[in-house]
Amino acid sequence: VPNPHSELVASRLRDVADFPKQGVVFKDITPLLGDGHAFREVIRGLAARHTGSPSRIDAVAGVEARGFIIGAALALELGVGFVPVRKAGKLPGDTVQRSYDLEYGTATIEVHSDAVADGDRVLLVDDVLATGGTAIAAWDLLTSCGAEVVGFETIVELAFLGGRVALGDRPVHALHVVG
Ligand code: PRP
Repeated sequence: VPNPHSELVASRLRDVADFPKQGVVFKDITPLLGDGHAFREVIRGLAARHTGSPSRIDAVAGVEARGFIIGAALALELGVGFVPVRKAGKLPGDTVQRSYDLEYGTATIEVHSDAVADGDRVLLVDDVLATGGTAIAAWDLLTSCGAEVVGFETIVELAFLGGRVALGDRPVHALHVVG
């Protein structure tokens, strides 16, 4: 069954060859963000999945940088706060960190230690799910702060990179799946 949100995302995604390096086809969401109607529809599509009981959400968390754009808009639509998960070294207060493997080397993300209260139900969002390394690190980081992460939402899932499998039994939802 064709999903209108999936088709909308597909129509506003741009493939950029050889970015950020040779052989990689980058999925660029800037055409989607640049279309006010499409951007709003996509945010409403995500929000509709979490509106009304029993799936109460206390906060939305998003991963720097593009996860901020989607996450902040979604938090506003849901009427809840936003928790920035940042690359290491950017947050001014006490933080907790998590490192994860990239294809070459490692990355470290962090959140303020007091960003969530014990038992807060947090929805984690990002623009793209690729290998899942970022989402798993952010999920586990928020959990270590006492949050109950209720799910991971993304605009685009690159299924051939195995992120959903890597995330195991953590609930994952993508508006548009590639591959
Ligand atoms: C991209 C994307 C996700 C992550 C997905 O971010 O926005 O956060 O990669 O990849 P993974 O599933 O393999 O971990 P990027 O690191 O390019 O950062 P940016 O948003 O700051 O450009």
